Amino acid sequence: MNKLKHLAIIMDGNGRWAQKNGFPRTDGHKKGASVVHEIVTHCRKIGIKALTLYAFSEENWGRPKEEISILMELLLEFMVKERVTMLDNGIHFNPIGTLEKLPDFLKNTLFDLEKETSINAVMELNIALSYSGRQDILNAIKNIISQNNFDTYSITEDFFSQKLSTFNSGDVDLLIRTGGDFRISNFLLWESAYAELFFEQKLWPEFTADDLDRIINNFSQRDRRFGLIKII
Ligand code: IPE
Ligand code: IPE
Ligand code: MG
Repeated sequence: MNKLKHLAIIMDGNGRWAQKNGFPRTDGHKKGASVVHEIVTHCRKIGIKALTLYAFSEENWGRPKEEISILMELLLEFMVKERVTMLDNGIHFNPIGTLEKLPDFLKNTLFDLEKETSINAVMELNIALSYSGRQDILNAIKNIISQNNFDTYSITEDFFSQKLSTFNSGDVDLLIRTGGDFRISNFLLWESAYAELFFEQKLWPEFTADDLDRIINNFSQRDRRFGLIKII
C-alpha cells in the first residue's frame, strides 16, 4: 500500500459547472470555494501531511477583472471562515506563489494567517496563488545565485527542493486534476517528477470527500516503481 504524504489538487471546472447549470461563472467559483472546506477537513481527518491546492495561477491574471475580483474576495472569505479550523486542527496555512501581485486587502490577512498558524505542524496547507511552477523554479535559482560563494557541488536535488516554496512538504505523491482535462497547467513541476497522476472527470464544484477516498484507494493500489524492477 502506497503512503500518501503530499497530495496536490488542481481544482478545475468551476466555470463549466456554472455554465452547465445556467449560472454566471462566478457562481461556479462560489460553489467551488465551499468544496475546499470539505476537502481540507477530510485530508486532515485521514492524516495527510501536506495538501497543496491550486487556487489561482499566474496565467489566471489574464481573465476578466470582475472574475479576478470575485476570486480574491472568495479567498478572503475562505481565510476568515477557516481560521478557527486551522488553529484548532494544527494546520499551517502556507500561501505560495508571487504573492506581491495580490491586492493589499488580501495580502495582509494572508500573511497574518500564515504567521498565526506557523507553529502548527500536523498538516501543511499550501494554497497556490498567483502561482507558476516555472517561476518557482526560477526563484529558487535566483535565490541560490544571490548567495555569495555558492558551491556548485552542494546543489543537489534535495538542496534545490529546499529552495522551492513547498520546501516543507516534499515531493508530491498524488496529483489530482478535476474537470476532465489532461494537463498540469504549470503546477508543481519539480515536485511532481514522480507523482502519480489522476485525471478526474467530475468538475470541482461536484467533487466530494467520497470522490477523494475513491481516488486515494486507486492510488494506494498502484505499483510505484520509481524506475526500479522487483526482485522476486
Ligand atoms: C478553476 O476553474 C478555478 C480557477 C482557475 C481559478 P475554472 O474557472 O478554470 O473553470 P473552467 O475550467 O473554466 O470550467
Ligand atoms: C488551472 O486551471 C489553474 C487552477 C485550477 C487555479 P486553468 O483552468 O487556469 O488551466 P488551463 O487554462 O485549463 O490550463
Ligand atoms: Mg479551468
